[in-house]
Amino acid sequence: MVSRVIPVEPFDLVIFGGTGDLARRKILPGLFRRFTSGQMPEGARIIGAARSDHDDAEYRATITEAIEEFVPKDRRDPAEVAAFVERLSYIKVDATGEDGWKKLAKAMRDDAVQAFYFSVGPSLFGALAERLHLHKVARPDARIVVEKPFGRDLASAKELNATLAAHFDEHQIYRIDHYLGKETVQNLMAVRFGNVLFEPLWNAQYVDHVQITVAEEVGVGGRGTYYDKSGAMRDMVQNHLMQLLCLTAMEPPTRFEPDAVRDEKLKVIRALDPVPRSNIVRGQYSSAPRIKSYADDVENPDSRTESFIAMRVDISNWRWKGTPFYLRTGKRLKARMSEIVIHFKEVPYSIFDEDAGRHANVLTIRLQPDEGMDLRVTIKEPGPGGMRLVDVPLDMTFADALGEQAADVPDAYERLIMDVIRGNQTLFMRGDEVEAAWAWTDPIISAWTDRGDRPLAYDAGSSGPADALMLLHRDGRRWRELAT
Ligand code: BG6
Repeated sequence: MVSRVIPVEPFDLVIFGGTGDLARRKILPGLFRRFTSGQMPEGARIIGAARSDHDDAEYRATITEAIEEFVPKDRRDPAEVAAFVERLSYIKVDATGEDGWKKLAKAMRDDAVQAFYFSVGPSLFGALAERLHLHKVARPDARIVVEKPFGRDLASAKELNATLAAHFDEHQIYRIDHYLGKETVQNLMAVRFGNVLFEPLWNAQYVDHVQITVAEEVGVGGRGTYYDKSGAMRDMVQNHLMQLLCLTAMEPPTRFEPDAVRDEKLKVIRALDPVPRSNIVRGQYSSAPRIKSYADDVENPDSRTESFIAMRVDISNWRWKGTPFYLRTGKRLKARMSEIVIHFKEVPYSIFDEDAGRHANVLTIRLQPDEGMDLRVTIKEPGPGGMRLVDVPLDMTFADALGEQAADVPDAYERLIMDVIRGNQTLFMRGDEVEAAWAWTDPIISAWTDRGDRPLAYDAGSSGPADALMLLHRDGRRWRELAT
């Protein structure tokens, strides 16, 4: 199978923070890959903008280095890298002052799509939005892209939304949650709404419970200062896990279109029950041989921030009442593993003898590593000796099933940036969605902050605190093993 790449329209993409970590690590390597796959037309131009002094040649050299660092060798040809960086230029712009804006305004073309990527801290969003408007840099159909964290609570998210809304309409604002750009996350929608098989069973009558896990092996790395003020709840649950939960739990949208999908996600968030203390386990990693503890990583010996969270979430609506969703995420865990697992109920009555055992279907949607799906079905154990049952996987690892095409799957950022150019907001968060997610998250965080709760220690490289296991044992269930 050959992948189908449809070039986008010519565009001017301005990256504020064009020399920063995200631009070097994700945005520009991603654009390079789109370039090599033929998706970038002749008229596609990228303008790096930042406060430091560079000319075009220096900027191109910096980005060449970034591509060499972040794109595997077998996926980059020096001639292609050189051709790609020809599309780049650099303008020194002061986000909070007036320098550079006239030059930027002059550089923008009238006949190309305009997109402005705010790859900077949220404290600069307002200043950038205002200046784009004031200096007439952005046309009324221009798009702006903003990164998480989108606020740290409901009040700050509202403030950010209001700041952006002062100069841009909602249809121009693209709030990135890179989990929505992951191939399997979109596949979840294809599986649910492209097959007749699952949807009739996708409810509390047939689903016993759902497990959503995003486990990481890495620690907080060099992001300690940011992370220690956030914790897993703000960094992962309020956004990435919430999005996975919404796509799993939502009603079928009337069309695969931005507002139809986002309306359905919003309804799920609004139907989430408040989470009692007894349904949450917070953890913080302690040291292991050759691995620093969280407190050492963030250089805060008294930190009460969680690097792990497990929780039971209940949804009060007709489809899901009585079916818990268990969420779990953490750093420095045993394995890097992200998946959504639908545990179906056992058959209502077994016609087989007791020694046939107890069985239930399990559908696993793997985000990483090895994107794919696996459905466990119950069959007869082959051979004589009566009717014994065994569960076997119907495995569909995309790399096996789709070959080369699966290897060429764009990374989340590549896809999302191309969606911005195409003007498709389906995979971006709407302002009201973000606010609803904070409205649910805020009381949970303030409860433990007010009480001064300390997270439970867990060993780096383990599966998290033992209490997280208890959260499910108590309900007669078990987490899936963390393994790759
Ligand atoms: C980011 C978080 O949004 O997602 C990080 O801030 C986390 O803490 C990362 O490591 C995980 O993304 P991925 O794509 O590697 O699963």
